[in-house]
Amino acid sequence: MNHRFSNTRKTRPNFTKYGAISCYHTEIMCGIFAYIGKPKSIKLALGWLQTLEYRGYDSCGVCFKTKKGLKIIKTVGGVDNLTKQLRTLNGVVSNRIIAHTRWATHGKVSTLNAHPHTSCNNEVAVVHNGIIENFNKIKSKLRNHKFTSQTDTELIAHLVEDEIKKNKSAKDIIKYLYNLIEGSYAIVIFLDSRDEIILLRKDCPLVVGLNNSEIYICSDSQAISNFVNRIIYLHNNTGAIIKENQIRFVNSLGLPVSVQEEAVQKHVENSGNKKYKHHMLHEIFEQENLIYTAINHRLKDLKNDGIIDFSRCSHDALSNVKRIVIFGCGTTYHACLYGSYLMRELLGIHTEAWIASELRYSKYIHSPNTLYIGISQSGETLDTLQIVWSLKERGEKVLGITNSPSSQLAKESDYVILMKAGREIGVAATKTYTAQLLELMFFTMMLAQKQKINTKFYIRPLEKLPAAVSNILKRHDEIRDLAEKFYRHKNYMFIGRKFNVPTAYEGALKLKEITYLHAEGYAGGEMKHGPIALVDKELITFAVAPEDPIFSKIESNISEIKSRGGKIICITTSKQLNTDEMFLIPTNHEFFYPLLCIIPLHLFAYHVADLLGREIDKPRNLAKSVTVE
Ligand code: F6R
Repeated sequence: MNHRFSNTRKTRPNFTKYGAISCYHTEIMCGIFAYIGKPKSIKLALGWLQTLEYRGYDSCGVCFKTKKGLKIIKTVGGVDNLTKQLRTLNGVVSNRIIAHTRWATHGKVSTLNAHPHTSCNNEVAVVHNGIIENFNKIKSKLRNHKFTSQTDTELIAHLVEDEIKKNKSAKDIIKYLYNLIEGSYAIVIFLDSRDEIILLRKDCPLVVGLNNSEIYICSDSQAISNFVNRIIYLHNNTGAIIKENQIRFVNSLGLPVSVQEEAVQKHVENSGNKKYKHHMLHEIFEQENLIYTAINHRLKDLKNDGIIDFSRCSHDALSNVKRIVIFGCGTTYHACLYGSYLMRELLGIHTEAWIASELRYSKYIHSPNTLYIGISQSGETLDTLQIVWSLKERGEKVLGITNSPSSQLAKESDYVILMKAGREIGVAATKTYTAQLLELMFFTMMLAQKQKINTKFYIRPLEKLPAAVSNILKRHDEIRDLAEKFYRHKNYMFIGRKFNVPTAYEGALKLKEITYLHAEGYAGGEMKHGPIALVDKELITFAVAPEDPIFSKIESNISEIKSRGGKIICITTSKQLNTDEMFLIPTNHEFFYPLLCIIPLHLFAYHVADLLGREIDKPRNLAKSVTVE
């Protein structure tokens, strides 16, 4: 096994000499969209670009071919700002359009730093996701060019301009760039004078979609799946040359390569969101149907004494699991943590939950029959993917749980569970969190079945969940009332015990993420070890307190806070609880309360953010898919 040490930036998985999971750096946020075909409205193209805003929305730009050369429009902020600037261009069409939405990593957020970037003669335009690691070295040799931005991307435009002056062909340019540029990238280059488009891809996703004579290029297959018939997922170190609506694929040496076309899986768009003020609210309400469908589908097997079917997940390989390691980031990590409590409790298997960015730098300890579970709704979170790559290099088995069938996590895991939550547009995860909890619940039940643990007992509580979710959502005005009462407070604490420690963490994360208020999540038992010092009449504490076997423990935590003058809001099943405010949830089994308790907390965060006038679907500084380390 290779134990190379690397603290320099690497773009492929690597192990440290200490055996840590991996140690390398890459930056691949941002979204790319390009179109080549019969003339299309620029406004329409911007609509497509908007679907990529989940990859970043601090600035964006578009470049299109006109009779007078390339026209470039860029702006700070989201695609709506760009569309406003285009008002004067109403009705304008073009047959070559490249566009980009950015999440700044190098160079501040500014119009100049937004993509596309151009060469000095304005004949080469470039959009790029990724990082050019030897940027400074190359730039120092390009003294005859005037740089207008702080980005590494601009370099490519100048390099290509020089190659065109030397009459180099597109395949020679591809060979030259692959040889010269170190780092990770998905690049689209438009050569106006030749009417040629060049693509390069290394470690950042880039797909080509085909529809009759139209060619679409995108950093996300889902965004173009509804208007193409076939998709080509470019492999690493593959380039493409598009001329006269024809496309040729080459390798990094510029030699022809064959690629595989895949039939497109049409993506079902969210419908009905017009009824809701924000996508996030729509997505919270969508859970009613999603949870009903998911539970009914899985329960069939459980009721019929069949092993729960996870179609892309081989049962045999999972029958002898002795240790489970689950990893993910952010909200998804909270789902991992829930999974670890559940698996320990129900299966009696040693289970660890890890924040992916921490696991990466921890010592790798091999133990036989370990199942690694990587969870990511987007399937593109870099910290999570890098662990998957490292584990695979070590010969470990990885189960990926994701909401995106075309994601890198789905493609690279040994086994895959696809959550069927539908596309989540709001940056803050809601329905995908509950979908993760559900998949973990049923996957744990399936492992229990394999161990001959009786799972019949859980059928009734699981059956009760959809009605319980409906009940909670129907009473969402009660949560709005709570938000109206408390939204002026600046500090919040969320506490829970055992299965609801992740719920407390998640309630706090959601509140801070979309309201920008200070919130902390704690295991209730930890309060007296420090955080209780924060309690005063200004601090609002949410206690997640369903009547589970350790209900009396959270009751004590609540009393301790109340007796120090703190304000308490309880999410509970008990009308008797001594609290300032309460939101009642239907009774269920302790395993499943997290699914119910999180819904009022997500709704509370939503309503507070709404009352504070926050940009709920696109909170500041965030992106839906975190593809940077
Ligand atoms: C918070 C949120 C994030 C994500 C995290 C991981 O609302 O959405 O914390 O959970 O960035 O994302 P995935 O699941 O795509 O790996």
